[in-house]
Amino acid sequence: MEFAKPNSIIIKGMGYYVPEKVVTNDDIAQIVDTSDAWIYERSGIRRRHVSEGESASDMAVKSARAALEEANLSASDIDLVIVTTVTPDMMFPSTACLVQAKLGIRNNIPCFDLEAACTGFVYGMEVATSMMQSGKYKNALVISSERLYPILNPTDRSTCFLFGDGSGAAVLSCSDEPGVGIIGNVLGADGAATAVLKIPAGGSLMPTTEQTVKDGLHYLQMDGREIFKNAVRIMQEKALDVLDLCGVKAEDISLLIPHQANIRIIETVAKRLKIPSQKVYVNIEEYGNTSSASIPIALSQALKSGRIHSGDYVLLVAFGAGLTWGATLIKWQ
Ligand code: UT7
Repeated sequence: MEFAKPNSIIIKGMGYYVPEKVVTNDDIAQIVDTSDAWIYERSGIRRRHVSEGESASDMAVKSARAALEEANLSASDIDLVIVTTVTPDMMFPSTACLVQAKLGIRNNIPCFDLEAACTGFVYGMEVATSMMQSGKYKNALVISSERLYPILNPTDRSTCFLFGDGSGAAVLSCSDEPGVGIIGNVLGADGAATAVLKIPAGGSLMPTTEQTVKDGLHYLQMDGREIFKNAVRIMQEKALDVLDLCGVKAEDISLLIPHQANIRIIETVAKRLKIPSQKVYVNIEEYGNTSSASIPIALSQALKSGRIHSGDYVLLVAFGAGLTWGATLIKWQ
């Protein structure tokens, strides 16, 4: 079906879901040689929520239901489903198709997964927005859902504390009001830096064997220092790029929602952008890094707690494996 081309694409509803089970830094310190003090000081993380059997699609369905409710729409209103994840339920079919079926969304619409690691939600917003600007899709679900805990090597103290599970979802809708909603988006990638964050085995390059499992090659591997350096530089650059693109100044930003990877990265980026800490949304202490779900979880919480008002500029900025990066500027309707 074709609709009139929209003047804007707005976020009509947000929702999030995190599993109930909490793993504390002290719990982790019982397995590897670390401490709550070290983890908190180096990363800002105290706890993470961990799924006890719920898959990426199970969590996605819960966050999507919450987003639909907030948007005052039902599953039958949805014309497009994009799920971003590095932990799909299975290699195929896509998690988006599983979510479509679980939510009872009709079957003559596109449903697909998008993988851009921690930048997934920002990529997903750009893809959904571009498709919706064609006038073919009125309401889209962009859902980011990650079950990361099982891909962490529980005996690797340099990675096992960083990540947690959860899901965040956005309902994007066409609007007749011009100049509001998602007003700018910049994306990028550097495929020369694939080695700094990856899972080596389990794909077509190195299919799973008894040996790959024995060698722990199905677990996430990361060069933390290298990512840290790149993240600070890239997030600052991309935030400035999207502000430039939209003719908005950093001082006009009401809320910065950065990917929740490390409190030191977040604070350094905010400082370089001269955005004061009270205008930066941070929840890493409670959830750790939930990859692509981190920004939509934070955005959903920020809305619920009344931190976003009509006319506010909200800036999302993310980076992740690939490397990938992106920034989105929203003028709240
Ligand atoms: O979404 C993107 C995903 N990834 C990231 O964003 C990661 C970005 N990087 C980071 O967040 C930080 O690099 C970490 C939090 C992972 C690590 O912090 P760091 O300040 O870069 O520590 P480091 O790797 O430079 O290690 C410092 C020391 C080392 O000991 P030596 O070599 O100085 O003796 C590590 O062996 O800390 C040691 N160490 C630990 N000590 C206690 C590493 N992990 C731990 C630990 N507990 N868990």
